Amino acid sequence: MTAELDFISYAQPPREAGQPILLLLHGTGGNERSLLPLAEALAPGAGILAPRGKVLEHGMPRFFRRLREGVFDLPDLHARTHELAGFVETALASQGTNNLIAVGYSNGANIGASLLLQHPTLLRGAILFRPMVPFEPEELPNLAGRGVLITAGEFDQMVPSAQAQRLATLLESAGARVSAHLLPADHGLTNADISLARQWLAGGRPT
Ligand code: MLT
Repeated sequence: MTAELDFISYAQPPREAGQPILLLLHGTGGNERSLLPLAEALAPGAGILAPRGKVLEHGMPRFFRRLREGVFDLPDLHARTHELAGFVETALASQGTNNLIAVGYSNGANIGASLLLQHPTLLRGAILFRPMVPFEPEELPNLAGRGVLITAGEFDQMVPSAQAQRLATLLESAGARVSAHLLPADHGLTNADISLARQWLAGGRPT
């Protein structure tokens, strides 16, 4: 149990009842504060749980090891996904996780997708910016009732947009409601990402 709580993290309860809790998952080299401005832009007043990834790659925090860019250390990914799920459950024990939405960017989007695949009841939904398929599951989980927003960049040099498309298909096959968008962008977030995510969180149909 104590090992599960052993994440450096930032947390803030929702300012108003009914607001979701955002599980902020940063990209490589980020930390527990990197996505706070994004959370404020997406849903001011939402609760926040923002852990810092425990793996260091040349001093840069990540959520799991990779063998090289885009090639993941799968046993580490699986173990870190379970560890993160345990941390989230423990950290939110008093508030519950029934309105928990992951907001992940890049490496954070990849562990967010892995959480959906391995702990399908933990998240109500997920916003995945520039994700990849974290691993090919042997069996599809049941993601009925979960919503996922995916945004990919047409000119992304790091993550081929076909990866995001494949992830969307995978999550849809598992029963999730997926809204996937290819933006004229590279790996960095744009105003279009933020505006799509705002609309999606507000329950509107992204246009
Ligand atoms: C990953 O390692 O998760 C992806 O390559 C994205 C990133 O560079 O963080």
